[in-house]
Amino acid sequence: MLTCYDATFAHVLDAAGVDVILIGDSLGMVCQGRRDTLPVSMDDMVYHTACVARGNQGAWLIADMPFGSYQGQRDDAITNAVRLIKAGAHMVKLEGGGWTADLVRALVERGIPVCGHLGFTPQSVHSLGGYRVQGRDEAGVNRLRAEASALAEAGADMLVFELMPAEVARSVTQGLPIPVIGIGAGSGVNGQVLVLHDMLNLTAGRMPRYVKDFTEGSANIQSAVRRYVEDVKEGRFPNDLVHGY
Ligand code: KIV
Repeated sequence: MLTCYDATFAHVLDAAGVDVILIGDSLGMVCQGRRDTLPVSMDDMVYHTACVARGNQGAWLIADMPFGSYQGQRDDAITNAVRLIKAGAHMVKLEGGGWTADLVRALVERGIPVCGHLGFTPQSVHSLGGYRVQGRDEAGVNRLRAEASALAEAGADMLVFELMPAEVARSVTQGLPIPVIGIGAGSGVNGQVLVLHDMLNLTAGRMPRYVKDFTEGSANIQSAVRRYVEDVKEGRFPNDLVHGY
């Protein structure tokens, strides 16, 4: 899985063999130059989802529900998820644990596949005290395990685990009936995701430690993306010794 925000890159990623494209609310930073994902709107997500859908042929498309689009009334959240599916997404992703389970169930009952997102959840950056590794003590690991199980039980078909020790991600993943995609969570999960502009070394400023520059030694963007796909599938990326933010 890689993030993507426009039709041209969607075509490149799809052609390079990326299985899943995430229209992430990281577009707030990548496309809009913001400090975090919090200001991203539903209209922004619908616009970028439609752009990506036009460039894609075969990849599974997941669109992020932005901050504020699912924290309030359940009916509003359902309407917002429907907008993303109408724009071309195959699945929606939302951040958070047990408190989202009822909404996940309601979306799945209405035919909308859901991906959960646990560990470091960027929309909660202020309440988490910054970009911090999660699941570092027993209580944190138990909470993560309970939240992941609650989301799977509610009908989520996939989870993203962000920023947690590799052994924690591995152990929680092993107890789950659904696939887990990791970012900064080591190799013991079922797949990986990176922000496209990070792995293409286009991001200005400090890069998270878990990111690898796949343009190094690659002739062009398509071969960098193809190398990422191969390295993930062959278990060459990520390296569990490189973790943290
Ligand atoms: O918005 C995003 O790019 C994401 C990934 C970090 C998983 O949610």
